Amino acid sequence: MIETVTQLKRLRALVRSWKKAGLKVALVPTMGNLHEGHFSLVRQARRHADKVVASVFVNPTQFGPNEDFDRYPRTPEADAAGLEAAGCDLAWMPGVDEMYPLGLAHTTTVSVNGNVAAVLEGERRPGHFDGVCTVVSRLFNQVTPDVALFGKKDYQQLAVIRQLVDELQFPVDIIGAEIVREPDGLARSSRNQYLNETERAVAPQLHRVLREMRAACAAGLPRQLVEQSATQALAQAGFVVDYAVVRQRDLAEPVDGQPGERVALLAARIGTTRLIDNIEF
Ligand code: PAJ
Repeated sequence: MIETVTQLKRLRALVRSWKKAGLKVALVPTMGNLHEGHFSLVRQARRHADKVVASVFVNPTQFGPNEDFDRYPRTPEADAAGLEAAGCDLAWMPGVDEMYPLGLAHTTTVSVNGNVAAVLEGERRPGHFDGVCTVVSRLFNQVTPDVALFGKKDYQQLAVIRQLVDELQFPVDIIGAEIVREPDGLARSSRNQYLNETERAVAPQLHRVLREMRAACAAGLPRQLVEQSATQALAQAGFVVDYAVVRQRDLAEPVDGQPGERVALLAARIGTTRLIDNIEF
């Protein structure tokens, strides 16, 4: 049976008892409204630890003033049931007071410096990664996990978290998990449910364009041409494109002609919904 915990004291007591028994603890941080992407993280966590904690917390500090914090779907009962079915031992569902004891106006902020947090999402969503790093640091201190799992769906977030852990020397191993997709290629996301029928039909174009970007790079096309064609294709499909880029795995801009592992990343709006996706190659 899964236990749902809302008080830090209770969380600490449970984790302490596990650690005393020599058990390894995994953490899967989420914002709830869970789907197969999240559950796959929980199932992978099981392979790395004896006890799996999933946190469910819609983190106010990572949403911009014009973003979807208020309308972000909150489904705690369904989340707890899904977590139990996926083999999770503890659902950590703190309130804002438990996460930010001094209140949101007096939050100690954790901020990762450098290119990895500054580009792409960092540029378009000022303060977003500060909010992510602030809440993930708190989650690490609360749960004290041996391992924590993050999805590659949020490719840049994973890179930022790795830098956070290296820099602040959190004693936790970070594991990146593959993207879970719908049969038509659309990456699973809580935000997919904002899409109306027409938008939903167009949304898989994101993944199609990513695969085209991969093929064009493999065929040796110059990066800027690949990025331009992708932007055009998405605009034609009805998206407003934030970015469509090819980057090195560390998110630095690749030098043309220099071989190496790459990742293509997209962010685009369809209607009022902003979707992100990526592909490694
Ligand atoms: P959330 O969007 O709920 O995602 C929680 C975790 O699930 C993230 O690591 C994300 O990358 C992963 N995930 C989401 N969709 C996925 C998919 N289709 N395939 C694989 N993994 C997927 O990311 C956050 O919450 C927050 O920023 C958080 C890290 C919890 C901090 O508040």
